[in-house]
Amino acid sequence: MEFRKYVRRPGLRGALSSLFSREYETVRAVDGVSFEVPAGAKTAYIGANGAGKSTTIKLLTGIMTPTGGRCLVNGVEPYRDRRTAAQAMGVVFGQRTQLWWDLSVTDSFRILQRIYDIPDAVYQRNLGIYRELLDIDELGGTPVRMLSLGQRMRAEVAASLLHDPKVVFWDEPTIGLDLMVKDAVRALINRANTELGTTVVLTSHDLGDITSICDQVLVVDKGRVIHQGTIAGLVATASQRSVLFSHSGPETLDETVREVDAMLPKATASVTDDHRVRIDYPADQLTSREVLASLLERFELTDCYAPEPELKTVIQEIYTGGRA
Ligand SMILES: Nc1ncnc2c1ncn2[C@@H]1O[C@H](COP(=O)(O)OP(=O)(O)O)[C@@H](O)[C@H]1O
Ligand SMILES: [Mg+2]
Repeated sequence: MEFRKYVRRPGLRGALSSLFSREYETVRAVDGVSFEVPAGAKTAYIGANGAGKSTTIKLLTGIMTPTGGRCLVNGVEPYRDRRTAAQAMGVVFGQRTQLWWDLSVTDSFRILQRIYDIPDAVYQRNLGIYRELLDIDELGGTPVRMLSLGQRMRAEVAASLLHDPKVVFWDEPTIGLDLMVKDAVRALINRANTELGTTVVLTSHDLGDITSICDQVLVVDKGRVIHQGTIAGLVATASQRSVLFSHSGPETLDETVREVDAMLPKATASVTDDHRVRIDYPADQLTSREVLASLLERFELTDCYAPEPELKTVIQEIYTGGRA
């Protein structure tokens, strides 16, 4: 997907010359992204700001037509047949509303019932669930434009699920929500997935959303997919590992740190808050076996363990371009 942006030349001269010859700069927001999401899976779509997540979702939901390539959702090219596509999908964009600015949430929901032709029984059942879990009644007759971000997001989430869609695309769905409501939203989506087999594609800066909802991850960087698989598989790609230990020898903690640094030049040792020694090492330079062997040879270990790398660290690495 390419966007054309006007290039503005600096200064008055630039402004004048831009009147006669416009120059475009082409931004490739999504470039060669190719993936399949299995039905019924819950996929986190992860990438730094500007990586192309929202653009991908706009293509998948038919809001934009790709300048090249194509995508299919439930066998339909969404931008070619938005009506058919929309019947099967639920969409939440944290950044823009799918509701009607001037109408109340209840009125918006009634319109949605008409648009999607939702049978009364389904509508009432779903409304019952969301009312309670998302406290929709509290929003009353207030027009959507006057709701707080958190209130509006609750309504957006409920609206996206009203018609029992086969697949939901949620782009930053928990923005502005407090912890209780976040939990309710997470529970809702998990419930839709378990009970109705709803396929979930989610982007979020909140790792809690990802770990409590998703089983799969799709990582994009600069418009390209750089990882697809399970969360555990992504965590296993961590480039930094660590080992923590204590020993019964006479050396102080600081002396131990200096010894480890001398013994394992590719690693970095430090003292933890709970008075242990921590060794951080690059996974492509050392293995935990080598680290452990060196420690066993030199110290009488009283405690030693290698914590799993954290998803947070791995994602930070991706966001800060460590994978580029
Ligand atoms: N309508 C647009 N016109 C021009 N450039 C755009 C437009 N929408 C997005 N972009 C650019 O495309 C890239 C990807 O944006 P986006 O899909 O919003 O990323 P993300 O959601 O991952 O933060 C960014 O460089 C962004 O500036
Ligand atoms: Mg975005």
